[in-house]
Amino acid sequence: LVAARPEGKVRESDFLFVDSPIPEPRQGEFLVKVMFLSVAPVLRRHLMGKSENLPPLNTGEVMRGRGVGRVIVSHHPEFAQGDIVQGKFGWQEYAISAASPEDMVHKVLQRKLPFSTSLGVLGPTGFASYLALNDIGQPRPGDAIVVSRASSGVGSNVGQIARILGCSPVLGIAGSRRKCRFMVENLGYDAAINYRQEDLGRRLDELCPDGVDIYFDNVGGQTLDTVLARIKPRGRIILCERMSDRDREDPRGIRNYGVIGNRQARMEGFNIYQHESDFHRAEAQLTEWLSSGKMRYLEDRLEGIEMMPKALLRLFQGKNLGKQLVRVDPEAE
Ligand SMILES: NC(=O)c1ccc[n+]([C@@H]2O[C@H](COP(=O)([O-])OP(=O)(O)OC[C@H]3O[C@@H](n4cnc5c(N)ncnc54)[C@H](OP(=O)(O)O)[C@@H]3O)[C@@H](O)[C@H]2O)c1
Repeated sequence: LVAARPEGKVRESDFLFVDSPIPEPRQGEFLVKVMFLSVAPVLRRHLMGKSENLPPLNTGEVMRGRGVGRVIVSHHPEFAQGDIVQGKFGWQEYAISAASPEDMVHKVLQRKLPFSTSLGVLGPTGFASYLALNDIGQPRPGDAIVVSRASSGVGSNVGQIARILGCSPVLGIAGSRRKCRFMVENLGYDAAINYRQEDLGRRLDELCPDGVDIYFDNVGGQTLDTVLARIKPRGRIILCERMSDRDREDPRGIRNYGVIGNRQARMEGFNIYQHESDFHRAEAQLTEWLSSGKMRYLEDRLEGIEMMPKALLRLFQGKNLGKQLVRVDPEAE
């Protein structure tokens, strides 16, 4: 449950765990035994009451979150016992749902990969990676691409997809030496820049002296400004996310937006909630690449629902490598 609304940083004490009897579904509802819960930066926004799409959470309410689980009892005409479902079930081991639009429930049909992938590479994280890069970035072979937050859930897919689509060089920005090494060895990045230790502008000038065709932006702020200065004519900037903490550290804001006009570049935002009709296309393409071994998925798992607060904190401490998840049911595969 939400125990307190954080002012700044999320703390473990903002949550409270309680035991209560497993609820009985009524007519039109089903009961899900949750296997995995997704951990994403947007949860902090829900907690702080800053979500654009949903009302603020109050203390005492079940913390919001997306999960995947198995239907164990159903009184709903469209869901049967044994169905695997993904949706907004909250931080719970068992959840009741009526598959209302807010729960965004859908059945998980593919079974070749672990069900956890329906929260990561074959869920909103992977679909955002593919759709934003492919549809907004319109990558062509030989395009120089830069990705920020490049070892995150989204970033760990984007580098690989860019490589499959022929981009070169594929450059990633991340916050530790361990992440940078991993990205080059395992995630299709030609080179990685550690923004905490290296001069980003200087490294970009060394690694892609002719400029940047596509920038997949996951952080905004000073990083965006530095890449903007190096964007090529007709370059594409994909605004997937910004990062409020780092933005606040940068009092100057964006200075180089003038290049967008001068160089006829294009900067476009991406919002996954506006792309539900494209999910099947993204899922089909990603499944094909995963099955053929062209692409791999990267999950960072903790065990047990009581690890949810810690898992959420890990994102803001920069500790996760790939999609952060918690396995709630110890028997789930
Ligand atoms: N636009 C859309 O429709 C859409 C769809 C899906 C996801 N997204 C967004 O895309 C972004 C990437 O998603 P994800 O699941 O890949 O993220 P993630 O794995 O949860 O990102 C965590 C990483 O972000 C960095 N980080 C450090 N401090 C942070 C802070 N104060 N705030 C946020 N991040 C911090 C750290 O990497 P470093 O150490 O490298 O800094 C950390 O390891 C998220 O912000 C998510 O909300 C947007």
